[in-house]
Amino acid sequence: MTYRTGFIGATTEAATAWVGSQVEDAKRIIVPFAGSGRDIQSMAGPERTIVSWDTQHYSAAIVNGVFAAKSVETNVDKIRYRKGWTYENRPIKNIDERCAGFIDWVADEGTLFDHACMASAIVRSTLMGRMTQWYANVETLYKRFLKAREYNSTFIGQPGEFVHYEGSVYDDFESDAIKTDKYDLMQVDPPKIVVGGDVYSANFDFLNKALHGTVEELPKWNWRDSLELFRKLIIGVHAERVVFLYVSGVRPAHEDVRAMLEQYGTIEEEKAFDHRGRTDYGIVLRRDA
Ligand SMILES: C[S@@+](CC[C@H](N)C(=O)[O-])C[C@H]1O[C@@H](n2cnc3c(N)ncnc32)[C@H](O)[C@@H]1O
Repeated sequence: MTYRTGFIGATTEAATAWVGSQVEDAKRIIVPFAGSGRDIQSMAGPERTIVSWDTQHYSAAIVNGVFAAKSVETNVDKIRYRKGWTYENRPIKNIDERCAGFIDWVADEGTLFDHACMASAIVRSTLMGRMTQWYANVETLYKRFLKAREYNSTFIGQPGEFVHYEGSVYDDFESDAIKTDKYDLMQVDPPKIVVGGDVYSANFDFLNKALHGTVEELPKWNWRDSLELFRKLIIGVHAERVVFLYVSGVRPAHEDVRAMLEQYGTIEEEKAFDHRGRTDYGIVLRRDA
């Protein structure tokens, strides 16, 4: 069973299974863009360490509060309210004061595990899960929270070790984790640029602020810089193999990303997955020695 938390841009079931199948006997895996942790969970295994980053608090809550946790830790016993950032700012269209107050209470008093459950409940309480319009009352929000809690409880204590950094991977290029450490595999599933920007900085900033994320403004991605940012990872990280996930119909184009990857090694495998009118691509690159 692969992990699923309602996160936009999480890999599809088929692609996730394929990512998991690429692990082989890798002991050390680096994941610059953790997202919902879906791919991380598919790659986890005994005696394996997965080192990851994400600018969103949501990812830290999942990796540290669910996968790396030894038991369920929760402080939420009923709907409680507090006047905090979400209450004061009403950062998403149509959110009412009770939902906002409940989110604020969990943000302040909830555990990391509770934050993971609340983040999932928040995404699922927006219209079509798109994070642009609120579509729930506080009872529904609480129901979704409880459902997420039940679901996340089954993913506690994944095998192996997890080291997760809440922040931008590009801010850590001078750290040992990137500068000196060696990895058997790097899995890259970057933000994709659709109509002007990425969905995370556009729509997830509210979630990050609501749950007291440490990154003040989520980085804005644009198509002009993306290829160089991808290249920076391929050059800068010491990984023998790279599993890179990309998609058709975005900029930079899949062909350009593929050509950039080929400059640094041999493409060993390529896979295409149909995904709602688009094609998701998986590329396995073996780095030149
Ligand atoms: C396509 S998603 C990854 C989805 C992931 N494969 C999964 O299993 O859910 C891309 C992620 O990159 C994150 N991100 C964007 N800029 C970043 C940066 N500079 N450093 C680390 N993470 C970043 C976003 O917050 C988003 O969660």
